[in-house]
Amino acid sequence: MTVDRRAMILGGAALALTSGSARLDAMSTPSLAALARAKGIRFGSTMGGSNFANPAYRTLNAAQCGLVVPENAMKWVALRPDARNFDFRAADAIVAWARRAGLGVRGHTLLWQFERWMPEWTRTHDYGANPKAEAARLLVAHIDTVVRRYAPAVDSFDVVNEAVDPDTGLLHETALSKHLGAEATIDLAFHTARAAAPRAQLVYNDFMSWQSYDGRHRDAVLRLLEGLVKRGTPVTALGVQSHLGSKYSEAPTGLGALDETAWRRFLDEVTGMGLDLLVTELDVHDNPLPSAVGPRDRQVAAHTRAYLDLMLSYPQCRTVMCWGLSDRYSWLQELRPRPDGLPKRPLPYDAAFAPKPMRDAIAAAFAAAAPRKATFA
Ligand code: XIL
Repeated sequence: MTVDRRAMILGGAALALTSGSARLDAMSTPSLAALARAKGIRFGSTMGGSNFANPAYRTLNAAQCGLVVPENAMKWVALRPDARNFDFRAADAIVAWARRAGLGVRGHTLLWQFERWMPEWTRTHDYGANPKAEAARLLVAHIDTVVRRYAPAVDSFDVVNEAVDPDTGLLHETALSKHLGAEATIDLAFHTARAAAPRAQLVYNDFMSWQSYDGRHRDAVLRLLEGLVKRGTPVTALGVQSHLGSKYSEAPTGLGALDETAWRRFLDEVTGMGLDLLVTELDVHDNPLPSAVGPRDRQVAAHTRAYLDLMLSYPQCRTVMCWGLSDRYSWLQELRPRPDGLPKRPLPYDAAFAPKPMRDAIAAAFAAAAPRKATFA
C-alpha cells in the first residue's frame, strides 16, 4: 500500500471517529467483506459486550464484515441464568443490529464440551432419579430453543465447541455429559440442531493448529469427526479456531515451530470426509514477537498471510472470521499479557481502529484466493 493511500485511510478513520459519521466510507475500501465475497468467501468478526456499545466500532464492523458472531452472548453462560430460564437480550440485540446492517450471523456455541465454560448451575442442578434423561432433556431443550429462535437469521452454528482434551486426546466431560457419555452428548447436540434447522451449516469447532506440538490434538479431532461421520451424526464442517501463535508465550523465536505437512494431511483428511472448513476465530498471539510495533506488525501480517493462503487453498473453506477486528477489544489482552507489558496487537485494526499490516495481509489473501462456489446468499 502506498504512503498516500495509507494516509488517506488513516485520515478517513480519524475523521469518522471524531465526526461520528454513520458510515466509514473512506475506511479501507474495498472492504474485507467485498474482497472475500468476490471469491465466494464470507468474512466477519465477533461482537459483544463493551465493543458492541461503541458506535464507531459497530460502524467499522458493518463496513468491513459480511458476517458477525456474538463473542459470548450465545453461550450457555450468557443465555442461561438457571435451568429453566433464558435471557436472550444480549444475543437478540446483536442479531437485530446485524440484520439492520445487512450482515449474516453465525451462532456460537450450542454446547461447550468443556466444564470450565458451562454455567455453575449445571454442576449443582438436581438431575433427579433418572439423571441421564434429565441431562438429555436439558440439552435438547436448550439447543432446540436457541436454534429455533435464531435460525434462519443464523445459517451456521458452532454446535459443539472444544470437546477434545489436547493433552490426552480424550473427550472432555461436563456435568451434563457425565450422565450421558461425551460421545452420546455430542451426537445428541448435532441431531437436535439438525431437527431445528434443517438447512443450517453444523460445525464442530476446536483449536487444533499447525503448531508441531499439536499432533495429539489433531489426531483426536480426526477420530472424533470420523466417529461422527460414521454414525451419521449431522456434522457438516470443521471450524478451525485459528488463534495463531504458540501457546508457549516464551517460545524463543517467532511464533513457534510449525508442521505444515501434518497440517495439510489433517485438512485433507477432514475434507476427505466430505466436511467443509471454516476459519472461525482468527487472531495472532504475539507474545514472543518484538516490542517494536513495526517489526511486530510485519511478522503478525506475514504469519496471517501464510496461514490464510494455506487455508484458502482448500475450496471447502468459504468462511473467515476474526475474533475481533480491533486490538482494543481482543480477549488475548487479558488472557496472557506480553512479558514487556505492552498491549498485544493480534488483530487487523489497531486500538484507534486504524488498519494494520494484518489487514493488508487478509485483503491480499482474499485477492489471491481462487474463486469458489459460494454456498450462502
Ligand atoms: C472467549 C471470549 O473472547 C472471552 O471474552 C471469554 O471470556 C472467553 O471466551 N475459543 C472459543 C471462544 O471458542 O468462545 C473463546 O472466546 C476464545 C477461545
